[in-house]
Amino acid sequence: MTKRLDFIASLINKDDKVIDIGTDHGYLLILLYNKGIKCMGTDIHQKALDSALNNLKEYHLDKEIPLVLTDGLNNIKVDDYNTLVIAGMGYNTIKHILTKTDKLNSINKIIVQSNNDYDKLRLLFNKLEYKIDKEYIIMDKKHLYHIISYLKGKEVLTKEEILFGKYNKEYQKYYQQDLEKLKEILKNIPDSHQKIILDIKEKINVLEKYIL
Ligand SMILES: C[S@@+](CC[C@H](N)C(=O)[O-])C[C@H]1O[C@@H](n2cnc3c(N)ncnc32)[C@H](O)[C@@H]1O
Repeated sequence: MTKRLDFIASLINKDDKVIDIGTDHGYLLILLYNKGIKCMGTDIHQKALDSALNNLKEYHLDKEIPLVLTDGLNNIKVDDYNTLVIAGMGYNTIKHILTKTDKLNSINKIIVQSNNDYDKLRLLFNKLEYKIDKEYIIMDKKHLYHIISYLKGKEVLTKEEILFGKYNKEYQKYYQQDLEKLKEILKNIPDSHQKIILDIKEKINVLEKYIL
């Protein structure tokens, strides 16, 4: 198990009934089941599900936790669940999973950990009418992970919030790191790439406001 998965499990409450989409090794399922939470896992790759099944067997949970080979929520009776976890994937896959389904009605909560494009991700969830409950940045084995907990509902996000999430003073040092990275990138972009330069400058402006 990892600090990242432990953290995701800590965001799940007793009343949540969870589908872990792209469960892979199934470790999150084991953590959730041991907390008394109803859960099931899906994955698009048989090899990943075989690995989940082996791990569930090791904990004698293979009869307790359903696993389904499928793309996202296809072929799944979603009504018995109210929460999704989608972790360890890129934005495009997450977008594919959430937009190629009409089964989000019963889903009140989504915990998402994308590997990239957090701004596009915030826009996508906003469009799907999920609002940010809380956004976290955690460090696990020298990697930074953004984990966002969403609840069903509409919200208006500012441009700043779309780019970097809701301001949180706990994350000052990460804003600072992002700012330094962007300034470094800016130095190496040729003048001919004006659009990219303007985008980066906009991000730098936001971060400078976020840093006290
Ligand atoms: C890097 S693993 C992440 C595993 C686990 N969720 C975690 O956070 O540790 C990504 C998993 O997502 C699965 N996956 C990718 N696209 C998927 C889709 N459309 N539907 C279901 N699973 C998918 C992959 O097969 C892979 O097992």
